[in-house]
Amino acid sequence: MADTESYGFDTLQIHAGARPDPTTGSRQTPIHQTTAYVFRDAEHAAALFNLQEVGYIYSRLTNPTVAVLQERIATLEGGVGGVCCSSGHAAQIMALFPLMSPGCNVVVSTRLYGGTVTQFSQTIKRFGWSAKFVDFDDLSAITEAIDENTRAVFCESIANPGGYITDLDKISKISDKALIPLIVDNTSATPYLCRPIEHGATLVVHSTTKYLTGNGTVTGGCVVDSGKFDWASSNKFPSLSEPEPAYHGLKFFETFGPLAFTFFGIAISLRDLGMTMNPQAAHYTLCGIETLSLRMDRHVDNAEKIAKWLEEDSRVEFVSYAGLKSSPYYERVKHICPRGAGGLFTFGVKGGYEACIKLVDSLEIFSHVANLGDARSLIIHSASTTHRQLTREQQQAAGAAPDTVRVSIGIESVEDLIGDLNQALAKATS
Ligand SMILES: Cc1ncc(COP(=O)(O)O)c(C=O)c1O
Repeated sequence: MADTESYGFDTLQIHAGARPDPTTGSRQTPIHQTTAYVFRDAEHAAALFNLQEVGYIYSRLTNPTVAVLQERIATLEGGVGGVCCSSGHAAQIMALFPLMSPGCNVVVSTRLYGGTVTQFSQTIKRFGWSAKFVDFDDLSAITEAIDENTRAVFCESIANPGGYITDLDKISKISDKALIPLIVDNTSATPYLCRPIEHGATLVVHSTTKYLTGNGTVTGGCVVDSGKFDWASSNKFPSLSEPEPAYHGLKFFETFGPLAFTFFGIAISLRDLGMTMNPQAAHYTLCGIETLSLRMDRHVDNAEKIAKWLEEDSRVEFVSYAGLKSSPYYERVKHICPRGAGGLFTFGVKGGYEACIKLVDSLEIFSHVANLGDARSLIIHSASTTHRQLTREQQQAAGAAPDTVRVSIGIESVEDLIGDLNQALAKATS
């Protein structure tokens, strides 16, 4: 597609990155089910391996189907480049890998998906990295947590599961001042509801497993680069600013400018970590993304109606959804996510833990699964599942206390969803 600037979101979600196949005219992006690509000659092969020419070598690094998805997501996010990978968790490591080295830390929000809390509080320690967890509504705490070894600030735009809205504009000012990038996980919001780069984010990460695919078929992830960060403004990011021994001393930032992070992601991170997205997964996500805006409007509409209905129900203890006037994030969400607060929220059932469990077991349309962003409505008791490895304190901070359930509202008929919740609440509180 030529001039992506002038097209609307609905056009770009279908066309960005894709062209009819030059050989067959195939209109849908073909699934390039191949491991390797034939070089024109030895000189061509050498140029590709030296990064002097851009092209396809081997599908651990690049694949034409995956490349279309990368360009599609980067365009929707307003970034200059994207690197897809095997899952959302892989995307988080791919985002941090070029920035970190042993002894470095990342300052992260306490309000994160439980798996991310575990990845950051436990697993990254094995690389010699660490995370400092901070309440991101406390801006001075973020500033205080940043030290000379901090290499990034990390948060979710709409935090899973609590539906908290992060004040990206204010937080990006703090990271800018410290000359470090702000990484935003935009999984729960999607670029249709929130465009973190417009609020100052340097990198955006996604679990494409969720709303971008939208039908619960494949796992995947993506890192999008805004192309705006000056990787040479300090000596903190030598992987991008200093000579790379594995490429004969090539300096990524000097050579590729705004595309330095993207090229590093492909040429070093995918090559050596191998967290590659397969072309089948890219195909499913490309199909899903074509209807993203339509689905998100419906997710938001249904979520607003259901959250309001639950809030007025005497069997419900509380509802945490930024789309409700009662939410402390009601004003903030209008600025960060002008098209709505998403389809994800939590609520408490009177009767606490036991009632929550009974509710989950009594629902008929909602599926009890560890996923979100499906066309189907989903429910989970986070404290006993996705946030199980966390301490009580961490669960509370993340909005996943034992007396709380999380719903991912689907795009079914809203009356049916309310009817299902109504009958399950009756059983849960009888
Ligand atoms: C907000 C968020 N980020 C990241 C992830 C991890 O994504 P994946 O399961 O694709 O690795 C999840 C998974 O639930 C998530 O909810």
